[in-house]
Amino acid sequence: MAVNLRGRSLLSLIDESPEEIHFLIDLARTLKAEHRGGTEEQRLRGKVVALIFEKTSTRTRAAFEIAAFHQGAHVSFMQPSTTQIGHKESIKDSARVLGRMYDAIEYRGARQATVQTLAAYAGVPVYNGLTDEWHPTQMLADALTMSEHCDRPLSETSFAYLGDARNNTGHSLLLLAAKLGMDVRIAAPALLAPSEEVTELCEAIAVTTGARLTITDDPAQAVSGVDFVHTDVWVSMGEPVDAWDVRIDLLLPYQVNSELMAATGNPNAKFMHCLPAFHDTDTEVGQELMGAHPELSSGLEVTDEVFESAASIVFEQAENRLHTAKALMVATLA
Ligand code: CP
Ligand code: NVA
Repeated sequence: MAVNLRGRSLLSLIDESPEEIHFLIDLARTLKAEHRGGTEEQRLRGKVVALIFEKTSTRTRAAFEIAAFHQGAHVSFMQPSTTQIGHKESIKDSARVLGRMYDAIEYRGARQATVQTLAAYAGVPVYNGLTDEWHPTQMLADALTMSEHCDRPLSETSFAYLGDARNNTGHSLLLLAAKLGMDVRIAAPALLAPSEEVTELCEAIAVTTGARLTITDDPAQAVSGVDFVHTDVWVSMGEPVDAWDVRIDLLLPYQVNSELMAATGNPNAKFMHCLPAFHDTDTEVGQELMGAHPELSSGLEVTDEVFESAASIVFEQAENRLHTAKALMVATLA
C-alpha cells in the first residue's frame, strides 16, 4: 500500500513502519536534489509551524526554520522564558490552543511525556525535536547520510555507536537500525548500556526486519568491519555538570580516535556525530575539561584528528537535518 503520512506525528520512530521511514528518507533525497538543482516547489505555502524549544539548539532549530522558509511556510520560535508553556499553562492546554492556530508543532525538551501529551491534544502533527529519551528527526538525517555514503541498501550496511548508549541518540540509533534491518553494534560500559526496555523492544522489532543487534562493552569488537562509527557527547543536555568526571573515566576507552577507526579494518569507514561535539579546546566546556583531564589532550568523545579527517562526514550529516526536516513537514502537511 502507498505510504501516506499526512496528519501524522513523529515522536520516537516506534510507531513508524520501515516503509514509512524509507519514504521519508527518499523524499528528503528528492527534496535535497530539487533544492540543489534550483527546482524546488513550495508545497507548504500558508502553513504555520510552532517551534517550541525548552532546551537549546542550533541544528534542529535551523533545520525546521529554513525548511519551512524554503517551502513557503512560516514558523514561530517559542521558549519557556517568553511563553506561558509549561510553567503557567499545562502542556495539555497549550496543545489545544496551539493546535487551533498552527498546522504543526515541533517540540524539544526534557520529557517524552510532554511531546506525547502535545500530540494527544493538539490535533495537528507534532514532531519530537529531541527529548531525554528519543531524537527521531536526527535519525532521519543519519539514515539519509549513511545511505548517501554506501552503495549498498541500508539493510546491508553496518554501523557502531560508542559512548553513552542509554541517551536519546544511543537508543534512537538502536531503534533506527532495528527498524531498517541494519547491522548495529553498540559499545558502552554496562552502566551506560541501552536500557533493558529499549533493548527488548528493538530485539522484538529485529526479529521482523532481520536487523542484527550487538550490545557489547568491547569497542574494538563493536567496530570490526563496520561502514560507519557514530558517537555523541558523554554528558547530555539536562544532566548535572558534576557527571563529567565519572563519565570521562567510564567512557575514555570508547573515545573515537585513529586507533579505533583503524580497528574497523575498513579504510572507507566514516565517522558520524549528531553534533555539537567536544573535539578541541575551542569551546568553554572542551577547554575546561581538557584542562582538568590531561588524559583528554586530543579530544573528548572524538579526537580532533578523527573529527577533522577525511573520514568525518559530520557536516554533511548536519546539513541533512535540513532536508529531512523538510521531508517530514512536506509528508505530514502538504
Ligand atoms: N544534533 C542536534 O540536534 O543539534 P542541535 O542540538 O544543535 O539542534
Ligand atoms: N545526547 C545529546 C544530543 C544533542 C543533539 C543531548 O541530549 O544533549
